[in-house]
Amino acid sequence: MRYDVDLVKRYCVQVMCAAGSSEEEAELFVQSLIFADLRGIGSHGTSRLSIYAKRVASGAVSSHVTPEICQDRGAAISIDGKNGLGACTARFAVDRCIERARRFGCCCAAVKNGTHFGSAAFYTRYAAEEGMICCIVSNAEASVVPTGGAVPMLGTSPLSAAVPARRHEPYVLDMATSVVARGKVVLAQKEGRSIPADWGVDKRGVPTSDPEEILCGGAMLPFGGAKGYAISLLIDLLCSALGGAYNCRETPSFWTDLERPQNIGYFIWVLDPSKFMETDRFLERVDGILDELKGCPPAPGAREVMIPGEIEAGRERRGLEMGIELSDAVVADMIEAGARYGVTADLQERGTL
Ligand SMILES: NC(=O)c1ccc[n+]([C@@H]2O[C@H](COP(=O)([O-])OP(=O)(O)OC[C@H]3O[C@@H](n4cnc5c(N)ncnc54)[C@H](O)[C@@H]3O)[C@@H](O)[C@H]2O)c1
Repeated sequence: MRYDVDLVKRYCVQVMCAAGSSEEEAELFVQSLIFADLRGIGSHGTSRLSIYAKRVASGAVSSHVTPEICQDRGAAISIDGKNGLGACTARFAVDRCIERARRFGCCCAAVKNGTHFGSAAFYTRYAAEEGMICCIVSNAEASVVPTGGAVPMLGTSPLSAAVPARRHEPYVLDMATSVVARGKVVLAQKEGRSIPADWGVDKRGVPTSDPEEILCGGAMLPFGGAKGYAISLLIDLLCSALGGAYNCRETPSFWTDLERPQNIGYFIWVLDPSKFMETDRFLERVDGILDELKGCPPAPGAREVMIPGEIEAGRERRGLEMGIELSDAVVADMIEAGARYGVTADLQERGTL
């Protein structure tokens, strides 16, 4: 069913404030959930309202905090996220990087004491709208087996990169380093669906299409075999060894540990294209390359070549026009979350399309 975006937003903000967040924290955080839902990434949208609210209420996520730059070398900064809502910490870090990239041409930020920040494209697409090229990665609790290993050692650690364009939507890569985000397995479990057998393995290491088997003692698989494993390990090295956050093995579970802060890390880099080349020329060149890709003859059975982020941008436009699409299971979960904190739902349904 589709629901009115503003009503869903307002309801989620009320729930987060009732759980303990400040209005400002809740507003930005809820924007990140709605962003994910609108773009068809339901695994990182309002389906997570309940668990985030629980984490805020328990104190595993701190409220009323402002991240702090703890080491400043101009184009290289270290940030302490103070275990506040990940959306607020990551946006703070990206804003600082944009500001510095406008001065120095580029800026990197390593963030410690971070918490789960949802869909990574929320930050890179924002930077692209500001005319910047941006890449963000985050480590996460161990839930993915390394190639050749039998025990989860790495996170589904996301990677997103965005490049602005003029005539085209920006290029927006946004991916888990597992075959798919683990949240998609959680959502399938919530909605009683089976999943493709190549997403993960059960506790014996055998591929399974039962979400339960993966979530209870099993593991996700890295995307692209050993290459996905290698990228995921690189992310852990940047976020933990360099950034000072916990590594994936040390990170408390987002889903089951409501006591301890996660202390995960993010690593972000931002480039200002205008410091490398005249902006108009750069955007023309980006559009030219994307034109070439769009002009590629389609393979048998395919309609056209899509640019990373293009499918999601189309969904987002439709969602903004027609309402946000949420399953009955997700709406029931949101209503239950509100009830825990005395917030009643007024989610006006706009009907299926
Ligand atoms: N915060 C965290 O800890 C965490 C961990 C893992 C994943 N995530 C998030 O989960 C979300 C889902 O990740 P995923 O790996 O399941 O994503 P996915 O498999 O749906 O998509 C990955 C990428 O492939 C692109 N893509 C897909 N089909 C395409 C096509 N036909 N042509 C061109 N490009 C195409 C998409 O635009 C996207 O950039 C992301 O938003 C990610 O940031 C977050």
